[in-house]
Amino acid sequence: MQSGMKPSMQLSMRPKLLLARPVFDEVMAQLAQHFELLHNPTDQVLSQAELISALQGCQALFATPSETITKAVIEACPELKTIGLMAVGYNNVDLAAASAQGVMLTNTPDILTETTADFAWALLLATARRVTEAEHWLRAGLWQNWRYDTLLGQDVHGSTLGILGMGRIGCAIARRARGFTMPVLYHNRTQLVPSQAEGASWVDKTTLLEQSDHLILILPYSSQTHHIIGAKELARMKPTATLINLARGGIVDDAALVAALQQKRLAGAGLDVFENEPALHKGLLALQNVVLTPHIASASGATRRKMAQRAAHNLIASLSGIPPDLVNPAALSQKEPTTWRTSA
Ligand code: GLV
Repeated sequence: MQSGMKPSMQLSMRPKLLLARPVFDEVMAQLAQHFELLHNPTDQVLSQAELISALQGCQALFATPSETITKAVIEACPELKTIGLMAVGYNNVDLAAASAQGVMLTNTPDILTETTADFAWALLLATARRVTEAEHWLRAGLWQNWRYDTLLGQDVHGSTLGILGMGRIGCAIARRARGFTMPVLYHNRTQLVPSQAEGASWVDKTTLLEQSDHLILILPYSSQTHHIIGAKELARMKPTATLINLARGGIVDDAALVAALQQKRLAGAGLDVFENEPALHKGLLALQNVVLTPHIASASGATRRKMAQRAAHNLIASLSGIPPDLVNPAALSQKEPTTWRTSA
């Protein structure tokens, strides 16, 4: 794979940076002023072996949520010093291994909060009011006439909104609920001080599951949150409820969700993330009462551009000091002061 990597320009005296995936032209141009860029020419996600091979001699990596950056990758790339992730969630990077090897990891917090909160509402409204199902039905030529009972959905306004995970995005989602006059419940490991909770009330997880008419999942993925919504939790939800996941695949047990939806133990689900994405559980594709989108919650043009710029800014800043969005300050104590090997 290394031999397939193409330097974008013959610059010397610059550290090498692997662009794991293509990104906006102006961002690549900005990076090229500071690094010798190596591109992944295939636009396929690099396997672990390909990533290790491509990263040999690289000090920097521009990565997306698609690359899985394991301990094995980090340990096999001793020259790697910094990873700029174009995402807020960083569960795809083995953080402990990065810190132990003195590899700085940065993410792109804040920038995508409002755009992602908008999308939570898009998924919620589409799911509760069966928007995509209705469009498929119409396009299939099934609309004969107006009927009192065509595609009846669930009301959103005035119903109870539940939010599991009340970080920045959870709060931005809760703030939007005011316009729909919805009581908002949330569950989080730590309760927020009321002035920061956007009018939402903390409840335990069982109460959240039992009382929410619409439940939005927006919590980080980790071994502790793996399948935090499984068969047992789904059984506690109202049969009229909708479930929205725009956090990470693996938070929901997709097989259990398919079973609940098939058996109409849940009204519907809106999913932007999946276990093993981009592969989907086959059962999901066969269901009508789901809205499925391809991990695009942050994908407005303006926000994706800002995320890429921020990831590049972090990488460039890491050349001369501590990057602003450093996730693992522990990495700094692991290595002697950074000396950037150049490609001269
Ligand atoms: C996208 O999923 C992100 O974490 O930014």
